[in-house]
Amino acid sequence: MSNPPQRITVNLNATPVQAEAGQSVGAVLMGQGIKAWRTTRNEGKPRGLFCGIGACYDCLITIDGEPNQRACMVQASDSMNIEGDFSA
Ligand code: FES
Repeated sequence: MSNPPQRITVNLNATPVQAEAGQSVGAVLMGQGIKAWRTTRNEGKPRGLFCGIGACYDCLITIDGEPNQRACMVQASDSMNIEGDFSA
């Protein structure tokens, strides 16, 4: 029998949410029903996960104050601060 997943808390624009240890930031956002967290510069089109493997850079987001992090490649950790336009 496997152990239950370890729970962590991350902050989405300062709002704490529960996540599972080991999830990517992108998985945490999708788990919260957030499918886009930024818009394109020229046309304002929503962007979130596309490739999910670090190749397309569509999922860029600010993590712990560091902009332009790939949400699909960064593992979420307890107390992490994730900032984005969650209404995109
Ligand atoms: S979804 Fe393509 S780099 Fe993250």
